[in-house]
Amino acid sequence: MLRLFALAATILAVSSGFSAGTRAEVTISISCSSLGIEQQLCQSGAEAWAQATGNTVKLVPTPADANERLALYQTLLAAQAKDIDVFQIDVIWPAILAPHLVDLSAILSEEDRADHFEVLIDNNTVDGKLVAMPWFMDAGLLYYRQDLLEKYGKQVPKTWAELAETAKAVLDGERQAGNANLQGYVWQGRAYEGLTCNALEWIASYGGGGIVDPDGTVTIDNPQAAAALEMARSWIGTISPRGVLSYAEEESRGVFQSGNAVFMRNWPYAWALANAADSPVKGKVGVAALPQGDGAEARHAAAMGGQNLAVSRYSAHPDEAADLVRYLTSAQEQKRRAQEGSFNPTLRSLYSDADLVTANPFYKDFLPIVESAVARPSTITGRRYNQVSSAFVRMVHGALSGQGAASASLVDLNSELERLSRGGNW
Ligand code: GLC
Repeated sequence: MLRLFALAATILAVSSGFSAGTRAEVTISISCSSLGIEQQLCQSGAEAWAQATGNTVKLVPTPADANERLALYQTLLAAQAKDIDVFQIDVIWPAILAPHLVDLSAILSEEDRADHFEVLIDNNTVDGKLVAMPWFMDAGLLYYRQDLLEKYGKQVPKTWAELAETAKAVLDGERQAGNANLQGYVWQGRAYEGLTCNALEWIASYGGGGIVDPDGTVTIDNPQAAAALEMARSWIGTISPRGVLSYAEEESRGVFQSGNAVFMRNWPYAWALANAADSPVKGKVGVAALPQGDGAEARHAAAMGGQNLAVSRYSAHPDEAADLVRYLTSAQEQKRRAQEGSFNPTLRSLYSDADLVTANPFYKDFLPIVESAVARPSTITGRRYNQVSSAFVRMVHGALSGQGAASASLVDLNSELERLSRGGNW
C-alpha cells in the first residue's frame, strides 16, 4: 500500500508540471498496464494518434498487478486528480469506477456498436452510461510444450487428471535425464485477482458455479468447489513448485518461456511473447482450452478477462481524451495490437481477418472459448465486487497453502459473502 501511495504521489508531482507549452494542442496522459509488452504497444498506439492529431501523449506507468492498479486508480480518482485523462480499466471495474468516468456513447458509431461483442458493451454500460470502450478480450488458456508431449508420446490433456499425469510423466523422464529445473504446471497462485480467475476456472470446470449466481445468490459452498480446490492443492509440491503461490502472470510466463515448464495457464498475450524471436521456446508451444474437471457437470472453463479504455470525469480535455480512446479501440489499432502482441480484438469481424488468422493459429479455437467463458460475478455484485474477490482469494490461498479442509473454508466464505450481499440485494 505504501508503495502505491508513493507511486500516486509521484504521478501527481510529475504531471502537475504539465503545460500546453507553446502549442495550441493539448497533452493527454494515459495509464496502461504492464503485462508483457502492454506498455510498448500502448505507447506506440498513443503516439500514432498524437502524430495524426498534433496533440502530445504521456504514458503513465502502472503496476501489472490488477489489485494494485485498482488501488492506485481509486486513490487518484478519489482525489479528483486531473493527472490521468485515459484509464485502462479491467472488465470487472466498470461498476466500481463508474462515478468517476464520462459517458462515451457518442464516440461509438452504429457500425462499431454492431461489431463489438454485445456482452462487452453491456458489461461497460452502467446506469445507461457507456463508461468504457472495449479494447481487448482475455480468456484463460492452456499453453503446452508440443515438443515434450511428442517426445513422451502424450496427447494434449482434456481433463485435469490427464494434465497431472502427463506433467508427472514428463517431469520424471526429464529430471532423470538431468533437467532439474523443469516444472510440470505453472499458473497464478499469488493472493490477487489472477488467483480469482484461476480458481474460478477450476471450480467452474467441476460444475461448481461462479461464486455468486447472476441472480445474486451466493453459491460457493458446494462439493464440486471443494473437490476442485483439493485437486489444485494436490499439484503444489508435485507438478507445481511451492513458489507458484506467489506467482502472477509474468512469473509464470518467465518460467514457461525460459523452457522450464511443461504446461502454463495464462492469457493470450503470452502467445506472441513465447513465439518472439528471442524466446527459447519459440515454435515449440501449443495452446488449448483449459482442461475439464471431474463429475457429471464437468466442462472446459476459461475465465473471461479483458481491458477497456475510459475517460476520467476530472480530465481537463475530455474531448481529446475520448478521441484517443476512439483511435485506440478502432479496428485498425486492434488489428495491429493483435498482430504484434496477440491481444484479442473486441470486434467480431477481426476474427476472420486473414492476417490475424495466420499470426494467431489459436484464433479458430478462441471464439468458442470466449463464448463459453465464465464471467466473474462483477455485474451482480457491482461496487462490492472487489470485496467479494478479496474474500474469495483469501480463502483459496489459505486452502492451497494447506490450512484445513477446503470444504470448511467454503462454509466460512459462504457466510461472509452472504453478509456482504445483504440477503441477495447486492
Ligand atoms: C488480465 C485480465 C483481467 C484480469 C487480470 C487478473 O489482465 O485481462 O481481466 O482481472 O488479468 O490478473
